[in-house]
Amino acid sequence: SKGHLVMKSFSLVPQGDKSLLLINAGMAPLKPYFTGAEIPPRTRVATCQKCIRTGDIENVGKTARHGTFFEMLGNFSFGDYFKHEAIAWSWEFLTKVVGLDPERLYPSVYLEDDEAFEIWNKEVGIPAERIFRFGKEDNFWEHGAGPCGPCSEIYYDRGEKYGCGKPDCTVGCECDRYMEVWNNVFTQFENDGNGNYETLQNKNIDTGMGLERLAVVVQDVDSIFDVDTICSLRNLVCEVAGKEYGKDYQTDVSIRLITDHIRSATFMISDGIMPTNEGRGYVLRRLIRRAARHGRLLGIEGTFLAKLSAEVIQGSKDGYPELEEKKEFIFKVLTNEENQFNKT
Ligand code: GLY
Repeated sequence: SKGHLVMKSFSLVPQGDKSLLLINAGMAPLKPYFTGAEIPPRTRVATCQKCIRTGDIENVGKTARHGTFFEMLGNFSFGDYFKHEAIAWSWEFLTKVVGLDPERLYPSVYLEDDEAFEIWNKEVGIPAERIFRFGKEDNFWEHGAGPCGPCSEIYYDRGEKYGCGKPDCTVGCECDRYMEVWNNVFTQFENDGNGNYETLQNKNIDTGMGLERLAVVVQDVDSIFDVDTICSLRNLVCEVAGKEYGKDYQTDVSIRLITDHIRSATFMISDGIMPTNEGRGYVLRRLIRRAARHGRLLGIEGTFLAKLSAEVIQGSKDGYPELEEKKEFIFKVLTNEENQFNKT
């Protein structure tokens, strides 16, 4: 309704960007449009981008919200609309389209960004005490070299039952109560990779909203592993392992880890990545081997990853037809790697 061109997800393999091993955000494949190096097909674009982030891989399975694979929804402006529209539309989308309770939503702004604060306060009507100011670590978006800028996030209060119970628990707490669902990035700078910032010719908008996180909030479930679409995969892991979910912590960690890693591995192979000993191939090898090892911990005999991969493909092929097209190849790569690892 705001005139965006909806583009297909780009490959997980970055094109012409040596600063990233894998696409890790909706904006990552769009960097040339932000810098002006390429002309976008329209100045307003929206995508649902497949993404992989492995920085927190050791936490996967252990928490409610960590995963290496996610789908990032985003709307982007390349020198078109800026702060006023982006903030108003993010609020409109979350409260009117998705229908989240405005009383449970809390915006945050970058420490020095009085302009964004005023927009939230005066234009959207959020009382000052409900708007949080955070520093560079939380409210300045940059991943690798390239376009970046201050951001304004929107947190959803999932309620006390998800909280840590500490008296000072509030927006920004590390616990699972306040979940960040939306990020408005005001992309104004370009980082040359050495911490030097140049002002971009255009002011741009980059937004990010994790589909899995949004689903957690809308479906009011415990974790990303309880979202309906991911839950069917999790249930298949349980079936293959002959285990029940929710009975034993260590078993649950393995179930969640396999559920996450098989999603990443399936999508990576469909984009042409092969398990190798370096670069993104090593990331894939590590994901497959970690999933296989946790399968052993659950007592699964023989190879099992291709069977799980079939479920990933079934659930995501409408949005990502390349999964169905490469199905047999994906199964073969997974099973070969599993067999090789089993021998080792
Ligand atoms: N690029 C903004 C985000 O992913 O949060």
